[in-house]
Parts: sequence; C-alpha cells; structure tokens
Amino acid sequence: MKKKPNYRLRRIVALVILILLILVPILIFNRANISHIPTKIKYSEYKSIVNSLYKVDFSNGEVRDMIETLKKKKKINEIRYDYIESLKDKGYSKDTIIYVLKNLSKTEMTKLLNRKYDKDLEEYVLINGFDYSKYNRYLSYQKNNKNVKKEDIVLRIELKIDLDNYEDTEEIEDPDSLLAYVNKHRYISKDYEPSDLVDMDDKYSNNYYGVNKLRKEAYEHFKEMVDAANKAGIEFLADTTYRSYEDQEIIYNNYAYEHTKDETDKYAARPGYSEHELGTAIDVSNVWYIEEGDEEYEWIQKNSWKYGFIMRYKKGKEDITKYAAEDWHIRYVGVKTATLIHNKGITFDEYWIKYVKKDN
Ligand code: DAL
Ligand code: ZN
Repeated sequence: MKKKPNYRLRRIVALVILILLILVPILIFNRANISHIPTKIKYSEYKSIVNSLYKVDFSNGEVRDMIETLKKKKKINEIRYDYIESLKDKGYSKDTIIYVLKNLSKTEMTKLLNRKYDKDLEEYVLINGFDYSKYNRYLSYQKNNKNVKKEDIVLRIELKIDLDNYEDTEEIEDPDSLLAYVNKHRYISKDYEPSDLVDMDDKYSNNYYGVNKLRKEAYEHFKEMVDAANKAGIEFLADTTYRSYEDQEIIYNNYAYEHTKDETDKYAARPGYSEHELGTAIDVSNVWYIEEGDEEYEWIQKNSWKYGFIMRYKKGKEDITKYAAEDWHIRYVGVKTATLIHNKGITFDEYWIKYVKKDN
C-alpha cells in the first residue's frame, strides 16, 4: 500500500526554512552594524570620547550607558567599547588605543587583539608620521638596521628606502617649485621644461658643448656665489646644469652601455628622475669635477648654503639618497632651506619629508 505523504513534517521543514530565510539576513545585517567602526567623527571628538571612557568605571556598565547617551545624541553610531577594554587589558596605553580606534580597520584590529602585547607598536604610535599600513615594513627594516632609531625608520619608509629602485613611482606635482623633490620613486613629466631658464655667461659656465641654462633665481645666486669665491681666490664653473628628458636619456644610456644596471643606477638618474631636469642642479668643475680634498670643494662645503645651495649627494648618506656620493653636484633650494639643511646636517630627502610633505 502506498504510504501517505507526511504533510506535517513537510510543513515543519517549510516553516524552518522560512524562519531561516528571514533570520539569517537580519543576523548578518545586525552584525555588520555592530561591527561598524566610526570613521566619520573628528579626531578631536574621538579623543574626547576615548578620554571620557577612561574616566568611567569599566566594570559596572557605565561605559555602555555613556555609549547609549552618545548614540542618542547622534554623536556616534557605535563605539567598539569591547575593543577598548581588550586593548586596555593587554596593557596598551591610552595613546595607542586612540590611534588604533581611529586608524585600524576591523580586520587589523582583530589581528592585533590576537597577538600578544606589542611594545614596538606603543613606541611607533607616538612618532609623527606613523602609518599602521606600513607597520610590517618598519619592523622588517628595523630587523636589518638595528642601530637606526624608530623615528628615522618611519621617515625612511616614507622615503621608500626599503623598496627597490624605481618601485612604486609617482609623478611630482610641483616641478616649478624650488623645493620640487625627485628621487628614485618620484619623477618629472617627460614634457616638463622650466619656463624661466636663462642662458649662462661664459664667466660662470663651461659652455664648450653648448650654452648651459639654469632657472633664473638659481642663476642669480650662483653668480653671487662664484663672485664671492673668486674674491677668496677660489675658482670654479658650472659644468652641467639643466638637462631635458632626452639629454638625460642619452647620459643614462651612455653610462649603461659600459656598466651594469646596478652600477649605472648608482651614478646616473634614469630619464625623468634627474634633478638636472628641474633646472636647479649644477655639476661644478674646475677643469675636472670637484671632489673632496679640492680647495673648491672645501669652500663650497663651507659657504654654498649662504647662497641657497645644498650638496645633494653626500658621503655617508648613500642609503638615503640611493646614489653614490657626488661631491660636485649642488642644487639650489633658496637660502632659508639651504641654511636649515646645513645647520641640521640632514639630506634634502629628510628635509622634504619632515618640512615640506607634512604641510601638504
Ligand atoms: N648624477 C645625478 C644623480 C643625476 O643623474 O641626476
Ligand atoms: Zn649632477
């Protein structure tokens, strides 16, 4: 005999499926809501919220009350007070907690909570310019450069010193600025030519292969500097100054013809990446390019900053500039900047990150 279909069981199964179909999206939606980390409120506001959280008793539910009040005032959608508690339990300071709440994604925060207390993080968080998305790069640089201070590591990673030459490159936006900064990760547009290039006089320039050009302000200061040097009995001339993209391409290719790629990259910039294309760089010579030990070098080292020039590729700074030292290569940046760089004994790279980029 044919078995009678079990309608009751079918009804129950259908009902369960229906309930699940309604419940699952609601649960997922709620979870997404709960996990929302506020990012739209201002940092100062966030800081005051987190500061207030520290004043309330974490153990008796005052935190929840406070969050409810904040939510009612529509100040905040949701605050992950459980994260605050966990981070606090782990031993993190208020500054770190504030940074973490403000900057980390939920996934990053969860990963952090699954790790044991990280003392390095506490120290890095307090450093100006710290960026959590680069944290692993800081740590691996630190591992290989144990004597570099954390503050300098943050700066160096910002300069992309840990990356390969010409990796992660970007075009500079301000080639006309006297503080325009190019390096192995920052290039000038192929078509760029400074609008105020002037021809240099034979008195100041070796024009044997064609008249050298320089940006007007740099030229005026170079003339003053050479006049002052001449008065002190020191003589030198500009040997190479402004180069177009095509000029730089020829120079680079000529070098590459006789050297390995790595060697070439130490001494010559690839087209688009040379300061000479900005019209503010000068290779200085007195018959030969000047070098350490020459009296011209000593004079320039001591005095060029007074005329707005810096020595761009110095000995001992090769890991920052990513070029071999070039005693003859100077660059105009204006008196104020040259004085600061001279007094602090830093590279233009460090100057740019500390004083120019942070104002952007
Ligand atoms: N020699 C320098 C780095 C240049 O090519 O611009
Ligand atoms: Zn040069």
